[in-house]
Amino acid sequence: MSDPVLLEVADLRFGWPSGEEALRGVSLALAEGETLALIGRNGAGKSTLLLHLNGILHGTRAVRVRGTPVEDWPADELRATVGLVFEDPRDQLFMPTVLEDVSFGPLNLGLRSEQARERALSVLAGVGAEGLADRAPHHLSAGQMRRVALATVLAMEPELLVIDEPVMALDPEGREAIIALLASLPQAKIIATHDLALVGELCDTVAVMDAGRIHATGPVGEILRDGGLLRAHGLRAPRNG
Ligand SMILES: Nc1ncnc2c1ncn2[C@@H]1O[C@H](COP(=O)(O)OP(=O)(O)O)[C@@H](O)[C@H]1O
Ligand SMILES: [Mg+2]
Repeated sequence: MSDPVLLEVADLRFGWPSGEEALRGVSLALAEGETLALIGRNGAGKSTLLLHLNGILHGTRAVRVRGTPVEDWPADELRATVGLVFEDPRDQLFMPTVLEDVSFGPLNLGLRSEQARERALSVLAGVGAEGLADRAPHHLSAGQMRRVALATVLAMEPELLVIDEPVMALDPEGREAIIALLASLPQAKIIATHDLALVGELCDTVAVMDAGRIHATGPVGEILRDGGLLRAHGLRAPRNG
């Protein structure tokens, strides 16, 4: 039987080489099928935490995926299991064409080139980017780039999606489209954002982060109703939430 706890973080501490203490003892757990919002003002430590979840930053054995510390996972397997979508899609896309970018993960996992291509095209269709396969990633619009960045991760068929600021810099239509797309994906998710309306639409549970610590965790309705808690950490409840 598989472990119902997909991901566990226990007292994670991390300082950047600059001396910035970005994580000051973070603990959280994510169950199978759960969507967790990680909310907090700029600089709270959200992105730094997410970089630990698929082993990009590692070394303290504080993060376990399916019970195994990330340090003990083969790197490729971990990155295929925990798919991280970066805050800036430009950090995710580095090949000359969209198709090559989305095929990259599957090829790395050992698929033959024809299988990898088929999987990439099918994932691109799934995110509504089927027409972009031959385009240069860096010439896409912000919304298109977000879809393609998500596709590069989905192409590895991860069990857990970790998504950093999915709607940043999108217009209202692009934002709605990404929210609908994320809602349609069956995987467990951790979504870092300060868009509390998105949190209300997509998430089951919420962790409030500030100054490198998690200050509260609870069901989405409970946390979003707590105006005092949100204001204390530089956030504001959605108007009709
Ligand atoms: N690459 C980096 N090098 C040094 N310090 C960083 C780096 N990335 C983030 N920080 C610092 O870590 C702290 C947390 O930042 P970050 O994780 O980006 O917060 P958030 O994603 O919540 O806005 C900030 O003080 C930030 O300046
Ligand atoms: Mg961030």
